[in-house]
Amino acid sequence: MYAERVKNYYTGTVRKEWNRLIRSPYFKLEFDTTMHFLEKYLPKKGRILDAGGGPGRYTVELAKRGYRMTLLDLTPANLEFARRQIRLSGVQNRVEEIVEGSITDLSRFEDETFDAVICTGGPLSHILESRKRNRAVRELIRVAKRRAPVFVSVMSRLSVQIVELTLFPFEIELPFFKTARDTGDYPGTYGFTACHFFLPEEFQRVFQNKGVKILEMAGLEGLSSRQTKAVNALARHKKRRRVWMETHLLTCTHPAVVGMSEHMLIVCRKLSAPRISLSG
Ligand SMILES: C[S@@+](CC[C@H](N)C(=O)[O-])C[C@H]1O[C@@H](n2cnc3c(N)ncnc32)[C@H](O)[C@@H]1O
Repeated sequence: MYAERVKNYYTGTVRKEWNRLIRSPYFKLEFDTTMHFLEKYLPKKGRILDAGGGPGRYTVELAKRGYRMTLLDLTPANLEFARRQIRLSGVQNRVEEIVEGSITDLSRFEDETFDAVICTGGPLSHILESRKRNRAVRELIRVAKRRAPVFVSVMSRLSVQIVELTLFPFEIELPFFKTARDTGDYPGTYGFTACHFFLPEEFQRVFQNKGVKILEMAGLEGLSSRQTKAVNALARHKKRRRVWMETHLLTCTHPAVVGMSEHMLIVCRKLSAPRISLSG
C-alpha cells in the first residue's frame, strides 16, 4: 500500500527529482558531501549497484568516472527518464542494467555481485514497516562483495521538526505531526509521500549484526541544515564558501551534527567473513 503511494508520488516528480541535487548551492551540499564519502571509500573501479537511484544522478556521475553501473528503482517513470539522461551523457556503455524493483527484494542479483552498493537520498526512508527496512538492509549487504563498501542515506526525524517549524508551522497542530515526531512514521497524507524519518541511533541499529562494520556516519547538510538562504548567499563568496565547506566536512561526522542533519549517511564495509544474524 505504501509502496504504491511512494511510486505515484515519484511518478509525478521525475524532473524535480532529477534537478533536486543541483537546484541550488544548498541542495548541492547533499550531493557534494555524498560524493566526498564515495570518493573516500569506493574502490578505484568495479560494479556498483545504485539502489533506489531514481532518475540516475549518481549513476551518470559514477559511470562518467568509469564505474560499471546497475540502476534499480521502484518508479518506472524515473527509470525511463534515467535511460534518456544516460544516453545524453554518453555513458550507456558503462550502465549494465536499468531495472525496476524494490530494495526489499534484490533476488534478481546473486550474493556478492557488486564492488559497492549505494542507496542514497532516502529510498530506505520510504519503507514504513520496520521488518521490511531490515530486510532491505540485509538485501543491500547480501549483494555486496566481501570487503565492499555500502552507502545508505536516509531522512532525519530531528531535522524534520525544524522543517515543520520553518516551512509548515500550520501543520504542527495536526495529529500527524506528533505521530511523526514520536514514531518517525509519516503516512504521506499531506504534501510529501510516505516516509519513515530516522533517529541516528535507530539508523545505526539497522546495520548492526548484519555482517558489516560501520565506518562512518555523516550529516549530509550538517551544520548548514535548513540554512538555505545563508548557504545560497555564501556561494557568491568563493573564499568564504571554501572555508565553510572545509568546516562542514570537519564537523559533519560529529554525532550532534549527524542527528540534526536533513539527510544522514552511513558508510559500512561488508566483513570478509560475514556473520549474518537471523534475527533483527
Ligand atoms: C529522493 S529519491 C532519491 C533518488 C537518488 N537515489 C538520489 O539520491 O537522488 C528516492 C527514490 O527512492 C525510490 N524508492 C522508494 N522506495 C523504494 C524501494 N522500496 N525500492 C527501490 N526504490 C525505492 C523512489 O522511486 C525514488 O526514486
